[in-house]
Amino acid sequence: VKTTVSVIKADVGSLPGHSRTHPKLLETAARMLKEAEGSIIIDSHVTHCGDDLELIMTHAKGEDNEEIHKLAWNVFIECARIAKEMKLYGAGQDLLADAFSGNVKGMGPGVAEMEFEERGSDPILVFMADKTEPGAWNYFLYRIFADPFSTSGLVIDPSMHDGFTFEVHDVIAKRKILFNTPEESYSLLAYIGAPSRYVIKCVRKRNGMIAASTSTQRLNLMAGRYVGKDDPVMVIRAQSGFPSVGEVIDPFRTPILVAGWMRGSHHGPFMPVGVCDANCTAFDGPPRVICLGFQVSDGKLIGPADMFDDPAFDRVRDRCCELSDVLRAHGPFEPHRLSLEEMEYTTLPGVEKQFENRWEDLPE
Ligand code: 13P
Ligand code: 13P
Ligand code: MG
Ligand code: MG
Ligand code: MG
Ligand code: MG
Repeated sequence: VKTTVSVIKADVGSLPGHSRTHPKLLETAARMLKEAEGSIIIDSHVTHCGDDLELIMTHAKGEDNEEIHKLAWNVFIECARIAKEMKLYGAGQDLLADAFSGNVKGMGPGVAEMEFEERGSDPILVFMADKTEPGAWNYFLYRIFADPFSTSGLVIDPSMHDGFTFEVHDVIAKRKILFNTPEESYSLLAYIGAPSRYVIKCVRKRNGMIAASTSTQRLNLMAGRYVGKDDPVMVIRAQSGFPSVGEVIDPFRTPILVAGWMRGSHHGPFMPVGVCDANCTAFDGPPRVICLGFQVSDGKLIGPADMFDDPAFDRVRDRCCELSDVLRAHGPFEPHRLSLEEMEYTTLPGVEKQFENRWEDLPE
């Protein structure tokens, strides 16, 4: 039978403000998933990145399965109830619908899933971010699966030499397209270099084997109002025909800027941290990413290994702090603040509305 890895997440309340989930929510989620082990799911692991509650589950039911999505929804509803009792901040924030209707996609939670035939040994890496949007993965997925200066296996491993296929979603026009690398890498970059609109949904080997899967939900587009950032998740398979574990995580040593941070309205450096540091603090950030590594064995999750809890990532964290200083010095100015086009999905239009009648036309 095939194994499915489902990572489903939502922000259902945090403390203080948008900084971290409450241990009671983590305990409740872990208990509810444990109770479902052996019946609905095979194995589970619960963690958080900042204020986002992350459910990592394995099962044999395939992607987009109603029972699995319902289980995750029930966990979020129960955790939101507890969050409301404690008056946690943003209790129930990401739950945009009142009742479950078959699939959590479009209801607020973020979902990254992949179904695969287990290899003799199947390492996976689960990435979870806070204070940013799904396009944040674009740069890293390109470096991991298409950049030979990053992944040496693309050059020296015969099983990777053919390259990979990228599925890109246009989250504004709601359409998708496939690009094969290396031959179409410039075309791929023409789109994914604009990560607020073009988001890599998955990466496959040329034979169709799934290599990476991301959550592409854009909360504010779904809700039609500002409800924070999407805070995306991603699953990547490593080794034996895929990039090695080290090749997958090495690009995160480059401190790139992503959209999100304070009020979902600013560019900031994407800081890789261990789970112990996955709390958003300074200016509600900076945006964070954690990575948990597992071996999948007959559906069991062997692990986790906290991949960024490591001195090898100290220097990128220092550089992220330096970049934070440079950006924060801009205060309310671009390019720290997002472009006007992207600010449409924040609370800024509410301010502009107040001045609509005070503007006078200039003479021709
Ligand atoms: P090992 O010899 O330690 O298994 O390493 C092989 C490898 O692929 C390292 O990236
Ligand atoms: P979240 O999406 O993580 O809740 O962030 C919202 C926010 O406004 C942070 O300043
Ligand atoms: Mg929040
Ligand atoms: Mg277990
Ligand atoms: Mg969040
Ligand atoms: Mg959010």
